[in-house]
Amino acid sequence: MGEKIVENKRIDRNNLILYLHGASAFQLLHAGVEFKIFDLLHEQKLLSLDQLVESTGLMKQPARTLAFGLTSLGLIEKSEENYRNCDAIEELFENKEYDLFKKMTLIQAHIMYVGQVDYVESLRQNRNVGVQRYFGIGKTIYERLNHDQKLKKVFYDYMEAYSAYALPHLLKNLDLSNVKNILDVGGGGGNNSIEIAKKYPNTNITLFDIPTAKSLAEENIRRNELTERIRFSQGDMFKDKFPNNQDCVVFIHQLVIWSLEENRILLEKAYQSLNERGQVVIFSSMSDDDEKGPLMAALDTVYFRSVAAGNGMIYPHKEYEKMLEEIGFKRIQKIKCDTWTPHGIVVGYK
Ligand SMILES: C[S@@+](CC[C@H](N)C(=O)[O-])C[C@H]1O[C@@H](n2cnc3c(N)ncnc32)[C@H](O)[C@@H]1O
Repeated sequence: MGEKIVENKRIDRNNLILYLHGASAFQLLHAGVEFKIFDLLHEQKLLSLDQLVESTGLMKQPARTLAFGLTSLGLIEKSEENYRNCDAIEELFENKEYDLFKKMTLIQAHIMYVGQVDYVESLRQNRNVGVQRYFGIGKTIYERLNHDQKLKKVFYDYMEAYSAYALPHLLKNLDLSNVKNILDVGGGGGNNSIEIAKKYPNTNITLFDIPTAKSLAEENIRRNELTERIRFSQGDMFKDKFPNNQDCVVFIHQLVIWSLEENRILLEKAYQSLNERGQVVIFSSMSDDDEKGPLMAALDTVYFRSVAAGNGMIYPHKEYEKMLEEIGFKRIQKIKCDTWTPHGIVVGYK
C-alpha cells in the first residue's frame, strides 16, 4: 500500500512571528478600528502621517508607531509619504461588511481577549476558567453579561451584525412556507426570529432565551411591530421544557456553545417538541469534516473552551448529521454556505 498523501498546512518563520506576536497584531488592528484609521483612509483614499495625526487627534509619535505597525501587517500600505487601505479592507467597505468587521474586532477586544488568556488552564481543567474574569455571577458568559450593560451591548451589537450577515444564506437555502410554529432556541436579541417572521408571514415564533436577552428582544420585536407573532419565552434550555406542537426548531449560533452530550439533550428535546414531519435546523459556523480547518473555526473554538460555557467547539458538519440520525431524524441534509465565515446548515425531519 502506498503512503496516503495528506495535504497539510505549510508555514514558514514569518508565520511563527505572527503567532508569537499575535496579541500585538490584534492590538494594532483594534487601534486601527478605534481610531477610525480605516474609515478615514476609505473616505480620503490617501493620507499623510500629519493628516492622520490631525484627523485622529493622536500625538505624532503614537500615530507614527500605529502607522508603522499597520503597514507592517499589510492592513494599510505606504507609498512615498502617504498611506492607503489594503485591498482586503477596501473590499469590506465596498461589500458593506466593514461594520460587521468592526463589531467582530470590538467583541474580540472587549470580551474574547479578556478570558482567552486562561486557555491553557481551561484545557487543563476542562472548563471555562476565563469566565471568572467577567463581573457578575453565572457559569457562562451569557449569564454574566446581564451584570455588565456595556459588555452586553458589545455582545449583542456583534450578534446582530453577525446574524444579519449570515441569515440571508440560511433563508435562501430553507423553505418554511408550510411551517406555522417555529421555536428559536437561544434566539438572543431576536433579529433572526424577526427576519424569519418577515419572510414567512404565516409563521408564529417562540423566541426562547435567558433573562439577559429579554428586554433587548422584546424591544426589538415591538419596534418591528411583531408582538402578535413573536413571543419571548424566558427559560433555561436545559432545565425547562420546550413548547410542543412545533413545525420547526432552529438552533442559530447555538450548538457551538455546548458539549456533544448537551447537544444531544437539546436535539432530543427538539425532536420531542416537533410535530410529525417537522424539521430541526442547525445553522452555525462548522468545521471541515477532516478537522484541518477552516482557520476561523479553529481559532473561534478557543473562545468556546475558555470563556463561553467551556465545553463547546466549532463542530464538523458530520457530527451533527450523525447525532440527528441517531436521534431518529430523517432526510438529513447538509449545506456549506458561500460565506467569509465558515457557516453551514444541517437540517433533519421527524
Ligand atoms: C451566541 S448567542 C446566539 C444568539 C442568536 N441565536 C443569534 O444567532 O444571534 C447565544 C444565545 O444563547 C442564549 N443562552 C445561553 N444559555 C442559555 C440557556 N441555558 N437557555 C436559553 N438560552 C441560553 C444566550 O443568552 C444568547 O442569547
